[in-house]
Amino acid sequence: MIETRGLSKWYDGGARRVHALRQADLSVKRGEFVAVIGPSGSGKSTLMHLLGCLDRPSAGEYRLEGRDVTALPPDELARVRGEKIGFVFQSFRLLPSLSAVENAALPLLYLGVPKAERLERAARALESVGLGGRLRHRPHELSGGQQQRVAIARALIARPPLLLADEPTGNLDRAAGREVMELFHRMHEDGGTIVLITHDQEVAAQAQRRLLIRDGCLLDEM
Ligand SMILES: Nc1ncnc2c1ncn2[C@@H]1O[C@H](COP(=O)(O)OP(=O)(O)OP(=O)(O)O)[C@@H](O)[C@H]1O
Ligand SMILES: [Mg+2]
Repeated sequence: MIETRGLSKWYDGGARRVHALRQADLSVKRGEFVAVIGPSGSGKSTLMHLLGCLDRPSAGEYRLEGRDVTALPPDELARVRGEKIGFVFQSFRLLPSLSAVENAALPLLYLGVPKAERLERAARALESVGLGGRLRHRPHELSGGQQQRVAIARALIARPPLLLADEPTGNLDRAAGREVMELFHRMHEDGGTIVLITHDQEVAAQAQRRLLIRDGCLLDEM
C-alpha cells in the first residue's frame, strides 16, 4: 500500500534548515494497522502530510498502491487524496456551518455523487458510528467524541483503502478515545489499512506494528 525510499522533508526558514523527516524507508502492506509514536516536534505530522499527499517531499520517493506519487502536480495529488485516503485529525476539522450529515457527506460531493445518494450514504455512515440520532446537529452541538466520530464517518464514507489519523484521540477523554479506537479496529477488521500517529503508548499498543520517530528518523520498534 505504502512504499517510501529515502523520504525526506526539510524547511528552509531563516538561517538554518530544519530537517523534519530524514531518509524514511517505510513499507506498509494492505490491511496493516501501524502506529507511529514520537515526541512533539519529531516529524509525525510532517510524515502524515507526505503520506497523505498533502505535501510533497524535499527528496526521496513515495509509491502509493504501486503508483509513484512523489512529484505529481497539485490537482493530481488532490485526486489521489480523494480516491485513496481518509483523514482524521486531532482537531476534528468539521465545517462549523454544516450539519453532521452534511459534513460526513462532503467527500462524496468532490467525487460527484448526486445529492440524495450523498445524504443517504452519510446518514448510514453516521448510524454506523452510533450517531443516527444526531444527523442534523452542527459540530458545536456535539461533544468532542461525537465530533470525532462524525470526522471518522467522513473519512470512511468514500471507502478509501488508506486511513491516516494524526493524534485522533489527543483531544478526547478516555471513554471517547476508546470509542474512536473501536471504530479503527472495525475498519481494520474490514480489511482497511491504517497509519495512526499518537504519543499515547496505550493507543499505540493497539496497533499491529509500531514505528518510532525521533528527530525526523523513523525506526521499527522490535
Ligand atoms: N511549515 C513548516 N515550516 C518550518 N518548520 C516546520 C514546518 N512544519 C514543521 N516544521 C518543523 O519540523 C519539525 C517537525 O514538525 P512536526 O509538525 O512534523 O512534528 P510532530 O511530531 O507532529 O509534533 P507534535 O507532536 O507537536 O504535533 C519541527 O521542528 C517543526 O518545527
Ligand atoms: Mg503533529
